[in-house]
Amino acid sequence: MSLEKLLAWIPPGHPDEALARQVAFDRLPAHIAVIMDGNGRWAAQRRLPRVEGHRNGIQAVRDTVETAARLGCRVLTLYAFSVENWKRPAAEVRTLMTLLKRYLRLEIETLLRNDIRFRVIGRAEDLSADVRRELDSAVARTADSHGMLFNIALNYGGRAEIVDAARRAVSEGIAAEELDERRFAGLLYTAGQPDPDLLIRTSGEMRVSNFLLWQIAYAEIYVTETLWPDFRRRHLLEAVLAYQKRERRYGGITSSHAAVAT
Ligand code: FPP
Repeated sequence: MSLEKLLAWIPPGHPDEALARQVAFDRLPAHIAVIMDGNGRWAAQRRLPRVEGHRNGIQAVRDTVETAARLGCRVLTLYAFSVENWKRPAAEVRTLMTLLKRYLRLEIETLLRNDIRFRVIGRAEDLSADVRRELDSAVARTADSHGMLFNIALNYGGRAEIVDAARRAVSEGIAAEELDERRFAGLLYTAGQPDPDLLIRTSGEMRVSNFLLWQIAYAEIYVTETLWPDFRRRHLLEAVLAYQKRERRYGGITSSHAAVAT
């Protein structure tokens, strides 16, 4: 979208307006991926049960999705539930699934209004039937949207994704010599999507936690101390502005060094 779409959503004079005006809309990250972390710590700081952190994380999801769509980001991927998250107490897993279903039911109109297409990446087949029904409905209802693609990573693992892609290659009878990086990328859950340019992680942790391992090969990593339930439009704009200040090298040399090197 654009500066106008973003400003239309920011009350005049609000501090976020100045941030929005600094964004270079011709150099937006095409794909932003987010590791939402710190819900448990947010709750612990308030002496609340962990699930309250997840509950309060929903407003951060809403803000992030709408900000990214209004900015004009092509793809947003949120890491909502990893293959390892099944190890959490059953009650916490149940709450996460309930929150997800509620989010989808309540937010579908916002997704449609913002022309957002919703997709799931991960082993969705292992999720319970009621969750899959809700996910399938949101995917179907937003199928004709042409704006931002919103991937939710559920029962997702980067290594599992690579194994699934290798299995697909075998089951589709692709010969070893036919496989190259481009072909392999087309077998991943994110086939056809641009790789993340910007990977955001909240709560100060310096790990990639098995997230989009193939796709983040050249992503810029931005870690903020902000805990996920506190993450808002301002924090996403700050991350985009920090990204735009960096010089990306893709393993080469920067243009400023090129003159010296040649
Ligand atoms: C990490 O915090 C967060 C998660 C494992 C789940 C994120 C889920 C939500 C924000 C709610 C549902 C999502 C959607 C998209 C509707 P943590 O529990 O690991 O925090 P900690 O490291 O402080 O313990």
